[in-house]
Order: sequence, then structure tokens, then C-alpha cells
Amino acid sequence: MNSRTTLTQYLIEQRRRYPEASGRFNNLILDVALSCKAIARAVAFGRLADMHGHHLHNDVASVNVQGEVQHKLDVYANQTFVDMTATNGHLAGMASEEMQEPWQIPAALPRGKHLLVFDPLDGSSNVDVNMTVGSIFSVLRAPDEVIASGRDVRSEDFFQPGAQQLAAGYALYGPSTMLVLSVGHGVAGFTLDPNLGEFMLTHPDIQIPADTQEFAINASNSRFWEPPVKRYVDECLAGKTGPRGKDFNMRWIASMVAEAHRILMRGGVFMYPRDSKDPSKAGRLRLMYEASPIGFLIEQAGGRASTGHQAALHIKPSDLHQRIGLVFGSRNEVERIERYHAEPQPLNWHNPLFAERSLFMD
Ligand code: AHG
Ligand code: MN
Ligand code: MN
Repeated sequence: MNSRTTLTQYLIEQRRRYPEASGRFNNLILDVALSCKAIARAVAFGRLADMHGHHLHNDVASVNVQGEVQHKLDVYANQTFVDMTATNGHLAGMASEEMQEPWQIPAALPRGKHLLVFDPLDGSSNVDVNMTVGSIFSVLRAPDEVIASGRDVRSEDFFQPGAQQLAAGYALYGPSTMLVLSVGHGVAGFTLDPNLGEFMLTHPDIQIPADTQEFAINASNSRFWEPPVKRYVDECLAGKTGPRGKDFNMRWIASMVAEAHRILMRGGVFMYPRDSKDPSKAGRLRLMYEASPIGFLIEQAGGRASTGHQAALHIKPSDLHQRIGLVFGSRNEVERIERYHAEPQPLNWHNPLFAERSLFMD
């Protein structure tokens, strides 16, 4: 490992595959990295910089398009992404968890070929308790007609399956700040050197082990789970003496980005499946700025990302803020969960007798 390789050097090396590349794509990734450095500083100052708590508008906590209360850091991180990526001519437009509609590059500024989609701060319920949070981003190519005309972007311009992403990544604001990135040829991890202010290549080729004994799910939702998920978790909990023949560990941080990072580092499986808690929602997590970029990284590292029924990267979005059920991580475990979904469901799963077999039930 050459820990003297900077993010900039890595990007230049990667781009040698494309002799016609203009450098704009690399500059966009560097603008995103700069946004993440700024957000990392704000996170690190915490309450000292008045960065905890809800964002107030006319003394009332503001609410985003998801109907979720915005934290100060959600709003700050969103504005930082916009300010640091809008002006350099790389983008045709952008979209974010915190903005209902696509954000237009002002007419006075040059417009580029790329679309940037981001979750400026993932896991923001963890901010006030000083736990790990992160930023997630996805880069798409704008449709040719948008590039040619330079017109304002529309939501439909972003509706591309995750498999079409040119790049995806996240920054993790944990004990150390990291940037984990894929430009379509594997996954590389960079650690922020606080002395130099540079992201240094520390994890050159991240691979997820195909097998694992660790799973992550919010067990408080167990009564709303569908039978395949309930079966999978029950079998993990049954441990050595159950059908899996081995003991499992369970983790839940409530920052998906942190769970994804743990899984990229040592394997595991993460589930936020579709459930019956709120039938109006197809899942908890958002397709375009959570599931697609994380799914891209996981698959680039040899893992798998799925709804349980189909590959997450094959879904064509129909709404910027669309939600989906999501399962990702070690390939053999995710494929097992998909098999459980594909098998005929027990006819009697509404029957309380079936529910009694669940170890999460009284
Ligand atoms: P965000 O902070 O961007 O709204 O996302 C939070 C998400 C995800 O990071 C995490 O896995 C999940 O919400 C936590 O959900 P629970 O509160 O149900 O644990
Ligand atoms: Mn999020
Ligand atoms: Mn968020």
C-alpha cells in the first residue's frame, strides 16, 4: 500500500483508461471531496460551533420533503454541497434529500455533463449524540439532450438505474474521516490526513467477504417484517443449534452509511426491508441517494444489493425521493435472503401460530 497516493493522484490514474477525458469528472469528485472536508470540520466542532439540534425557521423546526425534521447539520451539509459543486461548470444539475426539486445551476454559470445526487448527512439522528454520520453521493451522466441544450434539469433526467452511475461514494465522519469511492473499477478508501488536509489512499481495493456471521436490522420493527425476513433473522438467532449451524452477531448503528462501511471493511449483511409498518411507504431508505450509491459500492466490492426481490441497481427510479426495501452485504447471505423471498410464502403467515415461532415475539 502506498499511503502517499492522494485522492487527486488516484483519480488521474483511474482516468488514464479514458484518454479523451477532459478532467471535469475528476474535478467534480474533488469538489465533492472538498464539500466533505468542510462538513467533517463542522461535525467535529459539534456543540462548540452550535451545530447540534434542529434547524429553526421562524422559531419552528423545519421539515424536509420526507416530512422529517431537519437538523442544523442537514441544512449546513446540503448548502455546503451546493456551494462547492455548483460553480465550476461540471454539473448540469443536482438533487438532494433536503431539496424537494432538482437544483438548477444559475443561468449565469457554465453547465456541464454530470448530475450529482446526494444525501448530505446520513444518520443525522446520531449528530446530537456524537455518533458516526456521513455523506452519500452519486454521479450520473446527464441525458445527451440536456447537455446539448443546456436547459434546466427535470426530475426525469435523474431517473436512471443505479447500474448507470459513473461514480458513487460516501464520506464517513467517524473517529477518522474517510472517503470511500468507486469510479466503476473497484472500491478505494481514503483516510483524511488532518495534518495535510488531504485524502490519502489507505484501502486500495476493498473486497467484501462472501460469507459472514454478522447482520444488522432494526429489530424493533420485527412485528412488521414479511415472512422471508423473519425466517432469515430467526435462523441467524437460532445460532449453532439452528439450521445455519453457526452463531451470528447483531449490530445496529442507525447510520446506514456507517453500517455500509463496516460491511465493506469486514463483511456482514444490512437489512432495511419493506415491511407493513406504513403501507404507503415501500421501505425506509431512499433509492436515489441512499440505496443506489451504496449498492454500487457494495457490488463493486464483490457484494450484492437487493430489494429481496430484485437487484437494487436495476430499478429505474420514478421519483427523486422514492423509497425502497434494501438488503445488502456479503453475497452469499444476500442471495440466501433473495431465495427466501422467491420461495412460495406460507399460506398461514397471518396465523398467530406462525408468528409464535418468531424468537422476537413474546
Ligand atoms: P437520514 O439521516 O439521511 O434521514 O437517514 C437515516 C436512515 C439511515 O441512515 C438509517 O439506517 C435509518 O435511517 C435509521 O432508521 P431507524 O431510525 O429506523 O433505526
Ligand atoms: Mn440518509
Ligand atoms: Mn440525510
